[in-house]
Amino acid sequence: MDFIIKSGLPEKQRSACIVVGIFQSRKLTSVAERIDSASKGYISNILRRGDMDGSIGQSLLLYNVPGTLADRVLLIGCGKEREFNDNQYRKIIKKTVVTLKDTGATEAVCYLTELNLKGRDMHWKVRQAVETTADTTYQFDQFKSTKTKNKRPLRKFILTVPSRRDLAKAEKASLEGSAIAAGVDLAKTLGNLPGNICTPTYLANQAKNIAKKNRAMKVDILEEADMEKLGMGALLSVSRGSRQPAKLIVLDYKGGAKTAKPIVLVGKGITFDSGGISLKPGGQMDEMKYDMCGAAAVIGTMAAISLLNLSVNVIAIVPASENLPDGDASKPGDIVTSMSGQTIEILNTDAEGRLVLCDALSYAEKFDPAIVIDIATLTGAVIVALGRHANGLLSNHPPLVNDLTHASKITGDRVWELPLWDEYQDQLKSNFADMANIGGREAGTITAACFLSRFTQKYHWAHLDIAGTAWKSGEAKGATGRPVPLLMQYILGRAGKNKK
Ligand code: BES
Ligand code: MN
Ligand code: ZN
Repeated sequence: MDFIIKSGLPEKQRSACIVVGIFQSRKLTSVAERIDSASKGYISNILRRGDMDGSIGQSLLLYNVPGTLADRVLLIGCGKEREFNDNQYRKIIKKTVVTLKDTGATEAVCYLTELNLKGRDMHWKVRQAVETTADTTYQFDQFKSTKTKNKRPLRKFILTVPSRRDLAKAEKASLEGSAIAAGVDLAKTLGNLPGNICTPTYLANQAKNIAKKNRAMKVDILEEADMEKLGMGALLSVSRGSRQPAKLIVLDYKGGAKTAKPIVLVGKGITFDSGGISLKPGGQMDEMKYDMCGAAAVIGTMAAISLLNLSVNVIAIVPASENLPDGDASKPGDIVTSMSGQTIEILNTDAEGRLVLCDALSYAEKFDPAIVIDIATLTGAVIVALGRHANGLLSNHPPLVNDLTHASKITGDRVWELPLWDEYQDQLKSNFADMANIGGREAGTITAACFLSRFTQKYHWAHLDIAGTAWKSGEAKGATGRPVPLLMQYILGRAGKNKK
């Protein structure tokens, strides 16, 4: 879809549809008022008859409204004006896009970006509108013989700003939004692809494609033999049971100063997690194709960074593997040596994420990072703790927690910090090795992060447990593309600082 920024009077728009807001109860927004007076009270008359009171979720499609040049006027309920917030804003954009889908309009002029929203500027409103629109129109039907085809889909979405002075700022926001949306889109599709297609090799090829498109982006794929040489015994112990070779994927984007230390993103890339010998129960096991959503988010983020040619240095590292049972698979009780030299007793082969991540985190040291963030569908326990709304956040560096929390408030891609106190480390004691790979029933998300923390002592690090947010279960099963918006907001903040 094309997004276009424009400023102009609603009654003057020659368009298939213009979209305007109505607050509760029957309160016209200033744009709606303009149309109302141009049409000599046509809108307020209809509202008075009770067809719409402006509550959130409502919409009313009108044709041939007198005094306007548009074929249609779409009224969108915005809820109570005093309660209008980020979430309501996203909801009304979503409602607009869903409603337009069922009309014949292939183009529309949307005035909702002109609504006042406390604490949010034009840049935010435009970017969110673009991201929300793309999110709403996403489809994954490449394996359906009959596609859910829309004969007249929305092709051109025109977002308005109240004054020509806002045009440049809004256009920049629209470009950012489109790039982030492309990153989210890629992350969703990689997540939704089944495990028999989206293998470690497939992920490596995706990374190669991204590197081809930008001279500042380099790709390096480490094979199992390379990992062997580096002593990555933990990572390799996970892929033993698989016929698909593991890959360690490295994307290196140098858009910033040569001397600037990079941000390193590490994404868990288990393309299918059966649990291994500690086999998972069968119910919903299909959803373990989503166990590479950390990798998908990291790859999606790199794609978005590349589209925007950001002035930052960012490196993505993806340890990619399957976790399957086999005669040669790792067994409970096996002891492996990680790249760091620390030994690990594998008490549960289903706690494989931390095993692939710990070697990737040790590998990250060689890039002398400013910051390392790992993103992983690491524990079911994070869903028990936080439900499906927030990413779990654990870190050894409070300023990074602040930055990520700030980014989460701007994007709505929420994070919530859990403690990494030393007391929890005891749960990882092993009778036979330096540590066990599980920490018992209690505080499962924290002990998983404690495990990782033993490999991240040399740099500032944050861990995002996205097991509750990366995909939706149930009827509307599908990847969400989270936390690409969060990561992009964080990185845009860093890029902004570099320019000054
Ligand atoms: N990929 C899973 C985590 C997961 C489970 C994400 C369910 C989303 C839904 C991870 O590899 C895993 O199996 N973790 C175990 C750890 C346990 C064995 C300590 C878990 O959470 O049960
Ligand atoms: Mn597992
Ligand atoms: Zn897993």
